[in-house]
Amino acid sequence: PCRVLSGIQPTGRPHWGNYFGAIRQYIDLQENNQGFYFIADLHALTTVRDAEALRQHVIDTSLDLLALGLDPKKATLFVQSQVPEVSELCWILLSGTPMGLLQRCVAYKEKMDKGLPADAGLFSYPVLQAADILAYDSQLVPVGADQVQHIEVCRDIAQRFNHQFGDTFVLPNASVLDDSAKVPGTDGEKMSKSYDNTLPLFGTTKKIRKQIMRITTDSRPMEDPKEPEGDHLYQLFSLFASEDQKQEMAAKYRGGGFGYGEVKKAVAEASEEHFAKAREKRLELEQNLDYVHQVLADGATRAREVAAGVLSRAQKACGLR
Ligand code: TYM
Repeated sequence: PCRVLSGIQPTGRPHWGNYFGAIRQYIDLQENNQGFYFIADLHALTTVRDAEALRQHVIDTSLDLLALGLDPKKATLFVQSQVPEVSELCWILLSGTPMGLLQRCVAYKEKMDKGLPADAGLFSYPVLQAADILAYDSQLVPVGADQVQHIEVCRDIAQRFNHQFGDTFVLPNASVLDDSAKVPGTDGEKMSKSYDNTLPLFGTTKKIRKQIMRITTDSRPMEDPKEPEGDHLYQLFSLFASEDQKQEMAAKYRGGGFGYGEVKKAVAEASEEHFAKAREKRLELEQNLDYVHQVLADGATRAREVAAGVLSRAQKACGLR
């Protein structure tokens, strides 16, 4: 068994990319490991500047994770800000993190390159993420490809500290799935809440179908054979398909004479089937918010116990105690 940890930002509702890249791993890994999964509300503060919206997103994301199969009996689910030890550890780590290391991180770099204003929270974002990971002696961090750089930064920060103050932190490894590390959105770019190209996990069939129909396709005539590899509609179809179904669909692409509408319909049907149970479960959970709050409170208590131990270890190592 191994200590597994990951977080998701409550910046809106989780989408197919979050699920197939990360959440699905949380659920698989909760079986034989010690899982710590949290809603990263402190990180979300760098983008969500509306108190009511943030509170709502935290509850919605918790409901979504529980509905998708995260089991509080097997793993610890909590809200990041309810573990103040992490913020304290973050400060310790900030001292000793070279500016250059953070200047190379993509979220900050992208804003700078576009000439958009960035704040110190966004700049230090990867250090808070390092604190998240190190505070629980995490060994494995299941994420999508876009978070791998942050885990490299975390290892770098931990190594520097260990080198200066003696062995204190466990070095984590990323866990990334080959076939869904970077799920495309409706426009073929990486699916992301900030690109307005997401497909939702929950919602009415009608609304989700409408969004699936919006997936962009090329305008080549139907009769032309097409190469499925690299086609984002095919990639989205593949998320739900068995090996046989994928090959069957690939053969249709290569044979020509089929319509993209047909593929979209297949994607819609497969996704409805795939998430049907979770959607039902979510409706149940919505009627039972007391239970959800209790899960989060228990989770925070358990998480704090672990984080307090690691914080104290780090404090002693660097002379704060
Ligand atoms: P966030 O909230 O952007 O995304 C949550 C998880 O979903 C993955 N993901 C994707 N995977 C595949 N394809 C996509 N299109 C896609 N979009 C998102 C992300 O890689 C992530 O695993 N900084 C983190 C939150 C965080 C965290 C942590 C993660 C805070 N502290 C500590 C791990 C460990 C973030 O913004 O994820």
